Amino acid sequence: MRIGVLTGGGDCPGLNPAIRGVVFKATEYGDEVIGIKKGWLGMIEGLSVPLRLEDVDEIMGRGGTILGSTRTNPFKKEEDKKKMLENIKKMGLEALVAIGGDDTLTAAMKLTKEGFPVVGVPKTMDNDISETDYTFGFDTSVSIAVNALENLRDTAKSHCRVMVLEVMGRHAGWVALFTGIAGGADYILIPEEAVNLEKMYEVLKTVYARKSYALVVVSEGIEIPGMKGADAKADGFGHELLKEKGVGAYIASQIEKNTGFETRYAVIGHIQRGGPPTVFDRILALRLGVKAVEMIHEGKFGMMASLRGNQIVEVKLEDAVAKTKKVSENWLDLVKVFYR
Ligand code: F6P
Repeated sequence: MRIGVLTGGGDCPGLNPAIRGVVFKATEYGDEVIGIKKGWLGMIEGLSVPLRLEDVDEIMGRGGTILGSTRTNPFKKEEDKKKMLENIKKMGLEALVAIGGDDTLTAAMKLTKEGFPVVGVPKTMDNDISETDYTFGFDTSVSIAVNALENLRDTAKSHCRVMVLEVMGRHAGWVALFTGIAGGADYILIPEEAVNLEKMYEVLKTVYARKSYALVVVSEGIEIPGMKGADAKADGFGHELLKEKGVGAYIASQIEKNTGFETRYAVIGHIQRGGPPTVFDRILALRLGVKAVEMIHEGKFGMMASLRGNQIVEVKLEDAVAKTKKVSENWLDLVKVFYR
């Protein structure tokens, strides 16, 4: 078979191991793999490159994606969709592995409905895709953010300050939650829970009385009543670029004003989306890439390779993109054990 593979949406560590999984498994079947460059833009513009074993031999430990990525929506304009379908014929593709987050996977589902066979592979540092326990990129991202939080602890302690760390994650709080729990933060603000500033000041005062510093983790996607943030731009799929809202800066200023504790903030932004993938992300991504090729040979189209427990399984793309996977109540209960 001639199989295409693309990486769409925001990059994350693990994309290269997933590509490696696709190429090696396809080679076992005797298939040819065509890398589509720049995500769905490459399908519209016909940007492709053959992928052989030697192209993926040394990419296990490399962040980003050797194929490049964009946030292009091929179904936004009818003419783009037409170009994509023409290019599929020109490139002689018989199936496609689409590696991406909710936007890429939604486009993958639509393309399957147009009659072209696609299998999805979930990725995102946000960990917000339904029907999979974890997405690759998340573990690496949280590991970097935990490091950042631990660095902030040093200054917090030396200067008896409150330090606020703003992390990405869009409208799901997984990154902030895991960073805060793993890094021993004293308060965590995530989009799934209404912001209660009074409650936060109260907890911080108790914590500060005990250890003379405190650490707060804030997710970029929280809504703060009354906050006038910077006007955020939107990407190709209409998502606001939340980092520009500046919730970390706002929360830090409110803490200082309302508690009297000297407070500073840091925004790590895209630093948490690059660098070598952790072992967890490498193995997960590789297994998903291998599974996607198996699924193509079994004719399981409109489906996504997914992690359930320790097993790689198949789920419907339709179910995976139906809703964002948000932080559940039991996690919020766990966090509260540490607010004291
Ligand atoms: O979806 C991944 C993510 O890193 C989000 O956490 C963040 O809000 C967004 O992408 C940033 O997008 P961009 O890289 O386009 O600025």
